[in-house]
Amino acid sequence: MSDYTFLCQQLYSLCDGVSGRISVLSNSAALLYDTLPDINWAGFYLTRGNTLRLGPFIGKPACVEIPFGRGVCGTAARSRKTIVVPDVHDFPGHIACDAVSRSEIVIPITVGSALYGVLDIDSPLTDRFSPADKNGLEAFVLTLESILSELSDPFSAPSAADIVLDTIRERRSIRRFKPELPPRELIDKIIEAGLYAPSGRGMQATMTIAVTNKEFRDRLAVVNASFWNVETDDPFFGAPVILIVLGNRKRPTYLYDGSLVMGNMMLAAHALGLGSVWIHRAKQEFEMPEYKDLIASFGVGGDWEGIGHCCVGYVDGPMPVPANRRKNRVFFIE
Ligand code: SME
Repeated sequence: MSDYTFLCQQLYSLCDGVSGRISVLSNSAALLYDTLPDINWAGFYLTRGNTLRLGPFIGKPACVEIPFGRGVCGTAARSRKTIVVPDVHDFPGHIACDAVSRSEIVIPITVGSALYGVLDIDSPLTDRFSPADKNGLEAFVLTLESILSELSDPFSAPSAADIVLDTIRERRSIRRFKPELPPRELIDKIIEAGLYAPSGRGMQATMTIAVTNKEFRDRLAVVNASFWNVETDDPFFGAPVILIVLGNRKRPTYLYDGSLVMGNMMLAAHALGLGSVWIHRAKQEFEMPEYKDLIASFGVGGDWEGIGHCCVGYVDGPMPVPANRRKNRVFFIE
């Protein structure tokens, strides 16, 4: 049985006077790997938005990104609770980084109130981590948390460009929403992102109808489904907010303009921690007198074509993982 009290003391002395988080985390991983018998991976995944990103570690190369809710690490991150897996074959969704791993422990790391990341340790032995190991390693993480919280800048600060680019890369189309209505403040921010989309000649020839009224939304869902040759209970996948984008046919770029509004809104929803999905058939809906009359009732005039529904709400279940990008889609002429 390892002497975890001594291990914590060693961690303190190793990190004494060290100011960089990478150095602290690297030496913590090395200390664990060097001290604990029968382990084949020790290291960190660090929080980046709703994803864990690979941090300092020792062991075989590992997967770089784990969305919250996925695998042992993502599950521990989401629940903020230690997970001990005596046999990885019995953990549905376990992500295998090294085929010899048999058991695993993942402990969330919290700094202030934020989830900083997780400590992940793998062993080639089944049932390697006893309740005493769990307690000892939790004490190790407590020590680490206090060391990290003393650093002047414990969190890696992504640049503004990184945040925008991560948002673009991480956004997914969501097909299961919770029924709760997000606060109006967030809906307004999403709509505003759409209003700032580029438009042909800067003419802003688009309109957004924000539907949060459940009765209206449910009727629209029935109408939408009637234009879809797919059996569905709800073409909006349970989303409580439907942002309908329309384009003014008078402008030749209305379809492109409206598509950019949709794109901006979907990115904004993701940036704000909400899910979204583009649902079509707004065109057919707004050819119906019922919905033409609705537009007329706004008193804006003009000939409007429905472009899409940006369905928004809280994501129900784990974030879908991005598919690999298809090859042969980029060609340089240099
Ligand atoms: N097994 C982990 C993935 C990380 S590797 O073990 C290093 C998981 O299921 O989350």
